[in-house]
Amino acid sequence: MTINLNEYDAKQVVANDRKHVWHHLSQHKVYEDSDPMVIVKGAGMRVWDAKGNEYLDAVSGAVWTVNVGYGRTEIADAVRDQLVTMNYFAQTAGNVVAAQYAAKLIEKMPGLSRVYYSNSGSEANEKAFKIVRQIAAKKYGGKKYKILFRERDYHGTTITALSATGQYERKNQYGPFTPGFIEVPHCCEYRSQWGEVDDYGLRAANEIEKVILREGADTIGALCLEPITAGGGVIEPPEGYWQRVQEICNKYDILLHIDEVVCGLGRTGTWFGYQHYGIKPDIVTMAKGVASGYAAISCTVTTEAVFDHFKEDDDPRMGYFRDISTFAGCTAGPAAALANMKIIEDENLLENVQVQGAYLLERLHQLMGKYQVIGDVRGKGLFVGFELVKDRETKEPVDESLAMQLGAHCMKNGVIIGRTNRSFKEYNNVVCLSPALIATRAEIDIIVDALDNALAELAPNQQPVIEEAKVAVN
Ligand SMILES: Cc1ncc(COP(=O)(O)O)c(C=O)c1O
Repeated sequence: MTINLNEYDAKQVVANDRKHVWHHLSQHKVYEDSDPMVIVKGAGMRVWDAKGNEYLDAVSGAVWTVNVGYGRTEIADAVRDQLVTMNYFAQTAGNVVAAQYAAKLIEKMPGLSRVYYSNSGSEANEKAFKIVRQIAAKKYGGKKYKILFRERDYHGTTITALSATGQYERKNQYGPFTPGFIEVPHCCEYRSQWGEVDDYGLRAANEIEKVILREGADTIGALCLEPITAGGGVIEPPEGYWQRVQEICNKYDILLHIDEVVCGLGRTGTWFGYQHYGIKPDIVTMAKGVASGYAAISCTVTTEAVFDHFKEDDDPRMGYFRDISTFAGCTAGPAAALANMKIIEDENLLENVQVQGAYLLERLHQLMGKYQVIGDVRGKGLFVGFELVKDRETKEPVDESLAMQLGAHCMKNGVIIGRTNRSFKEYNNVVCLSPALIATRAEIDIIVDALDNALAELAPNQQPVIEEAKVAVN
């Protein structure tokens, strides 16, 4: 496929970008003597940069977002049709697509019933935190205001979402943080706090109970968890974990808030990650894959029981959720989300994720057999990662520079992969893959072959960083 760059001057675009755009998660010093990457086109799982280079994108827009792939004219058409009919009115009123999408979404989420719209994952989580705080104020005299989060999880970029994030390196220099957010220990069995045990999941969940008892159960309003930790290193809680978490929440009257910003909308082979584990969340947040990046939309979904708290109050002036986001009234979001969901259904993408995800894991396990540097392979569906270690016995992580080199090598060979990105000094050693839900077996092979080539060249020697890949996942 050739890209027509005649409509604009590619050199000028790159020069303007270099001079005026402040890129996310990027150290701009490298652009003093190199060009930033500027992406100009996408189709299926492929993207092209302004220099005409083609890449296979193994991370869905770098940050597990473009679930249905690039160039979906049906989503663009749906958004256009909606915008020329009715582009915006504040969410204090309803609109056609927001009502239709809410109903479709709730069909996929038995037990939940209300959809609150906003624009980003961070914001969806902020809404959840405000809901919990207001319930504490209304029902518990303000006492049950604390919110638990887990070491290694990420919940967003705003100061309060960061306050709920268990990644110390990412939080560094941005404090002081919002009070009332309390960390519970991680549940990464490969990095077990108790050595090798056969009941790791149960032990890790019991640690949450210890924190609750330490803080006082009557002070804890909610527990916020990723179903599978994403940017913190692709960590699926082991067997026994979720069942115990649910019991603990029920026992201490603690709301269970599941952050599906990454796992939501099919990434792990079910509509939502939590649906693998038989749990019943009170609040679910989602963003990225909701509209696959074709429009900015996020949702905070609750049970009717949570919603009911906002119908009455001793003081009727305070008895509702006093929150608004201007752009939640943009109809482009739900219009794109409706078309996005239709694609997932029409093309049986959940099934494809299960099949291709299993194949991806199988191929990565083969790589693990070949390279000592791979210490652990983990994930579910098209959401996987592997840890790079200096020594399989000690599990000592490699320096982050090796993950960077791998990324740069793959990119030179036309494949974009991801990695954990300065979240914890010692654990920025996880390579992340999250191809679009449309990935074929042939595309999985291209991704794994690129990794194979990169590891063959880089893993035996683990040289210091040559060039930093310009794409990072969060
Ligand atoms: C699990 C999780 N929650 C929340 C967020 C924040 O979403 P956003 O960047 O849309 O604010 C992210 C972003 O990567 C995420 O991975």
